[in-house]
Amino acid sequence: MIETLPLEIELTSQSRIDGVDFENLGFGRVFSDHMLVAEYKNGEWVSAKVMPYGNLYMSPAMSVLHYGQSIFEGLKAQYMKDGRISVFRPWENHKRMLASAERMCMPAVPEDLFIGGIKQLIEIDKKWIPKQKGASLYIRPFMFASEEFLGVRPSQEYKFIIFTCPVGNYYSEPVRLKIETHYSRVAQGGIGCAKTAGNYAASLYGAVKVQKMGYHQALWTNSLTHEYIEEVGTMNIMFRIGNRVLTPELGDTILKGVTRDSVLTLAREWGYEVEERKVSVKEIAEALQNGMLDEAFGLGTAAVVAHVKVMHYDGKDYELPPLEKRTLANKIYDYLIQLRNGDIEDTHNWLLI
Ligand code: COI
Repeated sequence: MIETLPLEIELTSQSRIDGVDFENLGFGRVFSDHMLVAEYKNGEWVSAKVMPYGNLYMSPAMSVLHYGQSIFEGLKAQYMKDGRISVFRPWENHKRMLASAERMCMPAVPEDLFIGGIKQLIEIDKKWIPKQKGASLYIRPFMFASEEFLGVRPSQEYKFIIFTCPVGNYYSEPVRLKIETHYSRVAQGGIGCAKTAGNYAASLYGAVKVQKMGYHQALWTNSLTHEYIEEVGTMNIMFRIGNRVLTPELGDTILKGVTRDSVLTLAREWGYEVEERKVSVKEIAEALQNGMLDEAFGLGTAAVVAHVKVMHYDGKDYELPPLEKRTLANKIYDYLIQLRNGDIEDTHNWLLI
């Protein structure tokens, strides 16, 4: 199946699935039986093996532990109503992984290792794909610098790993946000457009601060002036004001979300006026204050669509309209769930089946 490398397969002798409570999965706590591990050395991918999921052996001098060369992806698989398995737009995740690798001075992962590896792993662990409503198998491909070396330069050795985990909802309720005007997730000219560990590490301090104040996440703004909205928590952000759909334009500081891209395509097809541009804090604050902001929602693979319930700005909490009035976010959620389930035709060729 993987043409770039022979794929060795070692199956577990003892599945752990019987101990799993599929009714209470949460997110990212339960891991399927197998993982794929590939190694890069001397300028090429030298091995790829599917093996039982388990701990890794590593040197304390391994480069990623010190200098953070690490990138990842997140995508989902689920059963369709006819019993086949669909994966949502894995080619886009592969392209983004290539872009992240380039930005972080890491090697390219060949498409057939990425997509072929996902297919192989899903086939082996398909009984781990949950069948409960809203649940799916989250797939986590990632790559890190594995060279045992303390000099500061791009590592010469890497590991690429894929594991999967059955997951439920990422957020259990609509989110309360604080527009953050002090801390920053990423910087202009930095690595915000790469899906790399450091961006998530950089977001933690500000996120914990707003959580202590009673909010779920920070609505990140540009680091230099805090005048423009960038992302929310670990997701892209979108707003609806009447028939207009606004989202920050892509650039150094915004991750090229696969869900974001899908929703922009759908919103255009559904007749909304889509504006991908700089979105100012001022205009969103004014829309909040005038009661003109009809919807705000986060978009990501893990959460799919996360409704925003409350936004805090300049000392005040603003409540957004009730969920039943969120015509766009609700339509998007239903569409994506139905598409993945095979209830509607895949007119965009988004599914790998
Ligand atoms: C995703 O939505 O896939 C994300 O990247 C969130 C993840 C960090 C849990």
